[in-house]
Amino acid sequence: MMLHTQLPDIALRPLRDTDVPNLAHYADNPRVSDFLRDVFPAPYTEQDARNFLDSQPTGGLPRDLAITHSDELIGVMGYIPQMGIYRHSAEFGYWLAEPFWGRGIATAAALAFVPWVFERTLVVRLYAHVFANNPASIRVLEKAGFQQEGIARKGVIKHDQILDEIHFARIRSI
Ligand SMILES: CC(C)(COP(=O)(O)OP(=O)(O)OC[C@H]1O[C@@H](n2cnc3c(N)ncnc32)[C@H](O)[C@@H]1OP(=O)(O)O)[C@@H](O)C(=O)NCCC(=O)NCCS
Repeated sequence: MMLHTQLPDIALRPLRDTDVPNLAHYADNPRVSDFLRDVFPAPYTEQDARNFLDSQPTGGLPRDLAITHSDELIGVMGYIPQMGIYRHSAEFGYWLAEPFWGRGIATAAALAFVPWVFERTLVVRLYAHVFANNPASIRVLEKAGFQQEGIARKGVIKHDQILDEIHFARIRSI
């Protein structure tokens, strides 16, 4: 499968083993990992990239897709379904290779990815939690139709810095 975006050379597709070098190259960047949870490896090695690919579910709908430029991986966008009483919710996450920032690529990817999730899963609520020091990601979410729901004041700590965490969600229109 391939999801096209409003940008002609930008698409989303399932991850492949051949994505390992690009994953390791672009993800190994503190300007990416500084805005992600500590489970995101930093430094990020080829072994980390292989572990990430191995962690993908086999069969069924992929959870993470490569954001591609001319079919080459330049980022990742995914969702994590929640469990129990939260099973209609999923967390939305993404990162993009730094050389490609500021061209509307993450927004275009989100505008293609979010309807794909809503159309193909039982997810009703996609949510994202963003560090308050990440205005670019906040703009991406706003442009992709997410609404701010609240602020977990001093809710996260990253590199010894305590930060507010801003909560966004987009609800499937029924
Ligand atoms: C967040 C990220 C995905 C954005 O990707 P991108 O393709 O550059 O995003 P877009 O170009 O679609 O949109 C970025 C928007 O943020 C704005 N922006 C960028 N830096 C900004 C800043 N310092 N202050 C305010 N706005 C800023 C841009 O102007 C643009 O908005 P506009 O279209 O209204 O002008 C990318 O920076 C990234 O991967 N960051 C590290 C990982 C990360 O933060 N992931 C998300 C965790 S919640």
